[in-house]
Amino acid sequence: MNSDLAIFGGTPIRTKPFPVWPRITDDIKNSVIDTIENDEWGIGSSAIDSFNDKFAEMQNAKFSLAIHSGTSAIWISLKASGVEAGDEVIIPSYTFIATATAVVLANAVPVFADIDLETGNIDPESIEHLISNNTKAIIPVHTAGSPADMSRIMDISVRHNIPIIEDAAQAHGAQLNDKKVGSLGLGGIFSFQTSKNMSAGEGGAIVSNNQSFIDRCFSYHNCGRVRDGDWYEHHILGSNLRMSALNAAILIPQISTLVSDFSLREKNRRLLDQALNTMDGLIPMKSIDGGKSSNHIYMCRYVEKEFEGVKRDVFFKAMQAEGVFTYKGWSPLYKEPLFTINSKEYPWFKDVKYKKICHKNTEMFAEKQAVWLKQNHLIGTNDDTNDIINAFEKVVSAIKKDPKKFLNLDL
Ligand SMILES: Cc1ncc(COP(=O)(O)O)c(C=O)c1O
Repeated sequence: MNSDLAIFGGTPIRTKPFPVWPRITDDIKNSVIDTIENDEWGIGSSAIDSFNDKFAEMQNAKFSLAIHSGTSAIWISLKASGVEAGDEVIIPSYTFIATATAVVLANAVPVFADIDLETGNIDPESIEHLISNNTKAIIPVHTAGSPADMSRIMDISVRHNIPIIEDAAQAHGAQLNDKKVGSLGLGGIFSFQTSKNMSAGEGGAIVSNNQSFIDRCFSYHNCGRVRDGDWYEHHILGSNLRMSALNAAILIPQISTLVSDFSLREKNRRLLDQALNTMDGLIPMKSIDGGKSSNHIYMCRYVEKEFEGVKRDVFFKAMQAEGVFTYKGWSPLYKEPLFTINSKEYPWFKDVKYKKICHKNTEMFAEKQAVWLKQNHLIGTNDDTNDIINAFEKVVSAIKKDPKKFLNLDL
């Protein structure tokens, strides 16, 4: 192996692509053809019923409701939990934009909490500081599939009588102390968008153990209809947010493959963690006690001072040249243009001073430390994972050996 970094003309560690995602299987093809030929394509489809039964069972929940996206599933859950115009909803400041936009779409005000730097998940202490008389829901996100600190969050929920909607968009099959995430609170949402561990291109679901909550969700996702009402009888301002039967057909076989993928992802994550634990300057993320991640995305922390001030972007460039794409992921959401402009379009948060927020862990993680691999990096063979490890080792040791060479690098 050429020991020079590829960024300086050496041989890259990896030139092959990583496994393709989503994976097309015969079971998926057969399931789709069967639905097209023998089933309804929308309302009344047995594929949708079967998906809901199987997904609820897999997630240890009483109920599942198939939705057309994770974003809409959050909006529906907020409405069904009783959030009204002007209410506040506490969410992490480090998450995908949809967690926040669903709150805005519900005419409510997102209140951003800080995260725990070691897990990347919402910090319960920060939640506690932000609770006001207007707080009407809290959305913990199981970031990258790693369960948030739900025992402390449920304790806050009970003490303040505030419902919890879990954003488990990335956490299919993840669990906390033998319970699957998603129905630990009032309800939880999942996404089946292309990159997710279960994919239908687009799609979402809400799970819950609460019958009246899921019935209200049903109304919001189905034009305001009620379960046993007339077809043209509408009780609330809902919309058509239903999942297509074809998406359900694509997802059903993946409920079985998720289980084997879960172990594969876990094995590869452990190999990466073990390797990173031997490299000063890269820190694997921690899991909460009793937490079992779905390992949707592998994340770790880049500690700049261990690399004599060499910036994370330089590290990304060097990794990319070695054939392993790493990237920074999300920004602190309160810095998104959506929240820094005082738009007339969103009067319900026009008086909120998002510009004044500074959550130090979120900013440290998002702006300096977070290193993300792609989700398909965790479904490879041992050789694939070893290539990732070798690329990390090669880049880390080269920077440590001669940091000055990297400090002056013109990107
Ligand atoms: C944490 C999180 N929440 C919500 C969503 C929204 O899901 P969707 O893209 O299906 O609307 C996503 C998906 O990208 C996500 O990663």
